[in-house]
Formats: sequence, structure tokens, C-alpha cells
Amino acid sequence: MTNCLPCSQGVLWLSVSVAVLSVCVLVVDIHLNGNRMIGFSNGVRRLSIKIGQTKPSKMSFGGLHCKARCEIYPRTKDVKRFKVPDDKVRWNVPFPEYSPTTFTTETVLSGPYYADPDICSGKGEITKWNEIDGKVSRVSFEGKYEVVDGLPLNPVGRTGLKHRGCLGRWGPNHAADPIVTRWKRTDDDEIVKGEDGKPVMEFVSIQRRDNGEWAIPGGMVEPGSLVSATIKQEFGEEAMNSLEMSEEEKKEMHDKIEDFLSHGDKVYEGYVDDPRNTDNAWMETTAYHFHDDDGTKVGQFNLHAGDDAMAVQWMVCNSSINLYASHTSFLQQAAKRIDASW
Ligand code: BGC
Repeated sequence: MTNCLPCSQGVLWLSVSVAVLSVCVLVVDIHLNGNRMIGFSNGVRRLSIKIGQTKPSKMSFGGLHCKARCEIYPRTKDVKRFKVPDDKVRWNVPFPEYSPTTFTTETVLSGPYYADPDICSGKGEITKWNEIDGKVSRVSFEGKYEVVDGLPLNPVGRTGLKHRGCLGRWGPNHAADPIVTRWKRTDDDEIVKGEDGKPVMEFVSIQRRDNGEWAIPGGMVEPGSLVSATIKQEFGEEAMNSLEMSEEEKKEMHDKIEDFLSHGDKVYEGYVDDPRNTDNAWMETTAYHFHDDDGTKVGQFNLHAGDDAMAVQWMVCNSSINLYASHTSFLQQAAKRIDASW
């Protein structure tokens, strides 16, 4: 008897080993990269897996937050943040006089479905920081955050305000953003070029109800939901609902959008410099880019800014646009991806 396996058994053994190894690599990769996209060879079909991660995402925030240090807390008239100079944002820089304002809105304290318990007043407790807690993801794209005196610490640094402000979750509050773009065209269907000679990109922009600022039509990821599902739902609700069309046209449009929004690329995942952030609660998002190159899909819809507070329009993108939170930087990534004028 030899130690060699017959050829067919050898091949079988090899195939099984390769399959087991691939599964192991995938499991490790999913673990490290969190909300991972698996691209198939043609780059068209993608599967989104929602899962926890402890390492920072490759796209994470990096800089200092500014909007998260705005003087007056959003949706209030007089809740003032303690002033934090640029050089005192990082937690590792001593700032002994730091005395942040304590603030959580009455709405959040009343315990709506999207909010955590008020752990500071002994109503409930949270033990699964940096983990998936039931259906709620308390995992940050920025890596493992610190928990000090029972409260999670903003991974970027001080904001001048502690507790949750108007955010429901302690720690990361996860959102998803669909960046939908097309080329700007003349009436003769020619693509317009910018001063740099590159094609000009337009994106679907909505005006936020809370502060009137223009933004990407994103929304919060509900516990247990996938980013991909949130993207489709929010885009449908916020951007397409304003179109006047028959039920039949709506149905046709719905199918087209569903398909279009299944083929995007992730351009960002991480912390957002959002004015609602606090020392213990902050926004994170996953932004996907969907480009309608020939303008025959979503690009054909003529969106108009209504005179309603909530408006939607195709907005030209370049370095001078000023959008809500850090949305301008997500668009810059999208422009880079398709070599658009910026
Ligand atoms: C918005 C997203 C935004 C996120 C962080 C959410 O409320 O819907 O568009 O990226 O907040 O600012």
C-alpha cells in the first residue's frame, strides 16, 4: 500500500481543501471589514453582509470634526456647547477646564422606538458596547471606541456636549446614503464640461426639513436592516415621492429604480461630522454611489425643487457646493470615482 491517493480522490481532497480555505478567508475578511460587499467577477452583482467589526474601516473619517462643535445645538434655541478649540478636540490632549453641557432632548428621553434607555438615570443598562446587541449594531466603522464611566466616547474627540442630544442611540447611530448621479447635459443632449475639461456631474439632492440644508437623501438604518434596503427605501421616500405620475408609471419607475440601486459602489463608511453629534452619541454612515452614465434610468426623471420646505433637485457638484454634515466629501469621492469635474 502506498501513501498516494488515487487521482480522483486526490482531486476531490484538493477541491474540498480549497473550498474550506476560501470559506475561512471569507469569514476572516467579513470579520475584519464589517459591512462587506462581495463583488462577483463582472462587478455587477453584489451581496451586502451586515456584521460587526472591530478594526477601523479603510474609509474612516480621519480629520477633526467642525460641525459637531457648532455653538448652538441643532433644533434648540439656546443649548450651547462648551467651546472646544481645534487643538483640544482629541481626548488624549489634556483639557482640565473642559466642562461639556449635558443635554438630551425630551423626545429621546421619552423612549421612542428608535432610542436606547436613559442609562444615566438607571433606566436599563447596555453591556454590549462595540458589539452587535440583539438587532442593534453598536459597532463603529472607526474601530473600537472607549467606554468611560459607562458611556461610549466619541471616536473623533470632544464636542462640547455630553449625553445624546437628539440622537437615539448611545455610541454610533448608523445611517445609509445613496449618491445618485448623472452627467449634466445641454438641451441637445451634449455632456457639459467644467473648467477643468472634465464632464460635470449632477446628483439627487434633497433639502432637509430640520434645517433647510441640502443633502444626500439618506436615512437611519433600522435595527436588523441592511444598508442596501435602507438606501432603496430612503431614496424612494425622499427623492422620488415628489414626482407626479400615475400608479402604473410609479410601478414601472419603482422596478427601474430597484434595479439601478442594486448596482452601486461603496465610496464611504465611517464617522460623519454631523451637528447632532455629542461626546457620547454620533452619526456614522455608509454611502454608495450609483451613476446613470447614459441618463436613461433615474437620470431621465426631471426632479424639481418644489416651494415646499422639503425639496428635491438635480444639483451640480463641484468643490464650491456646501452640503449638510460631511456630505460634500462623499460627493468628492464619487466624482473621483467617475473622473468628473470637481
Ligand atoms: C441622514 C444621512 C446622513 C446622516 C449623518 C442622517 O440623518 O439621513 O443622510 O448622512 O444623518 O449625517
